[in-house]
Amino acid sequence: SARDLIQDECRSLVLSNQQLKRLMAAMEKSMEEGLATSTKKVAVKMLPTYVDSVPNGTERGDFLALDLGGTNFRVLHIRLDGTPQAEMRGKIFRVPESIMRGSGEALFDHIADCMAKFMEENGLRKDVKLPLGFTFSFPCAQQGLTKGKLISWTKGFKASGVEGSDVVTLLREACHRRKDIDIDVVALLNDTVGTLMACAFQENTCQIGVIVGTGTNACYMERMDRIPKLAGYVDEHDHTPEEMIINTEWGAFGDDGTMHFCRTKWDDQVDRESINPGQQLYEKMISGMYMGEVVRVILEDLARKNLLFCGNFEAISKAHCFPTKFVSEIDQDLIDSEQDDANFQKTYQILEDIGIETVSSSDCANVAYVCSLVSTRAAHLTAAGIAMLLNRMNKRMVTVGVDGSVYRFHPTYPKLLDEKIDELIVGDIEYQLMLSEDGSGRGAALVAAVATRIKAEKL
Ligand code: BG6
Ligand code: GLC
Repeated sequence: SARDLIQDECRSLVLSNQQLKRLMAAMEKSMEEGLATSTKKVAVKMLPTYVDSVPNGTERGDFLALDLGGTNFRVLHIRLDGTPQAEMRGKIFRVPESIMRGSGEALFDHIADCMAKFMEENGLRKDVKLPLGFTFSFPCAQQGLTKGKLISWTKGFKASGVEGSDVVTLLREACHRRKDIDIDVVALLNDTVGTLMACAFQENTCQIGVIVGTGTNACYMERMDRIPKLAGYVDEHDHTPEEMIINTEWGAFGDDGTMHFCRTKWDDQVDRESINPGQQLYEKMISGMYMGEVVRVILEDLARKNLLFCGNFEAISKAHCFPTKFVSEIDQDLIDSEQDDANFQKTYQILEDIGIETVSSSDCANVAYVCSLVSTRAAHLTAAGIAMLLNRMNKRMVTVGVDGSVYRFHPTYPKLLDEKIDELIVGDIEYQLMLSEDGSGRGAALVAAVATRIKAEKL
């Protein structure tokens, strides 16, 4: 039957534990290379964040926060009062694709513009500089908490003239150009760090922050004596901390070829046709910006081989016509269909809306099968990354704070992730996964709060 042939075609999408363990070893090796040097050549950058302690729960104050790089660009106002119930209000602004891929100046002008609008609408005085936490979810070579050069854009961004520049300076310059607002950036942080901090505020064993959203990435508490490239580092109190949060930028794992043994021709195609070929290869097998597209190129291939849609491949050949949201909906449809014999109504509707005119009920079941293979593979690949970190840290109990649209909205992803981590960890360690809410709001404010406290202590 078509299903048998499809199963055969798709065999390479199923990763055994043996393959995942090989991947874990390769990833740890890449991470060690990243911890040793800061040259651009290493695939996994392992970026120091200059955040060396988690919040202690007494943080308070008024903060602004910016969140750029996820599905939504947001401006937020947060009030911390020393309890977990932070008061927060925020607004989502659109970043049109023309601005994401235009000039850097226009991008930062847009950000400053949204900030000014937000302050006006919320009655915030523009002449009082509130401390600001800037969640900038891209790889940055930080020189301290308030300074970081963008190494390279990832996901859908490609604004010119930003790579190699300090993004805090670019933001400050944009504010100066418009003259009505000024800012006091006290912390620049990655979204994984905000995620870890927001979770740590509630659960003090939280030592890993993971995002599985538009992109994927993780940060974790690493021992200073295992970060050779920071040898001799002292903080503003002339003190060497015991640990520091490292932003792994694991999305780029495999960019040096180390993942060849588990990649498929479909992964190569998605990469080739993306705006950053050769970059972020692990991310492109996992995250929301790509998962739907991986499914789509597989479906196209199967249709061309006459294994789907009676060989009708035109409609499914249109790049990006199958967003990751469809994978979630169809995986849900698969669960419903197994439970009470519903008949793939949702799947049918999605395929029709794409414009495929010859959909049969076995097509629906086969499409759902492909979706489940790709999303399961994504969960297992992420599990390998998290299990590797847990094994490396080798602590008794670690909470992993997780956020992002794939983790939040895919029906089986969290469970698949959890079960696989359990199979891949070794020794006497325990962990739990925890949805971390508002990393870029509460988390950013917490980093900003810790930073302002330290600054005040110095004066
Ligand atoms: C949000 C965090 O909830 O998740 C953001 O607050 C983060 O900082 C985002 O970037 C990641 O998920 P997505 O799906 O929006 O890319
Ligand atoms: C991309 C970015 C990374 C970010 C992740 C999740 O991988 O490079 O900095 O954390 O997406 O948003």
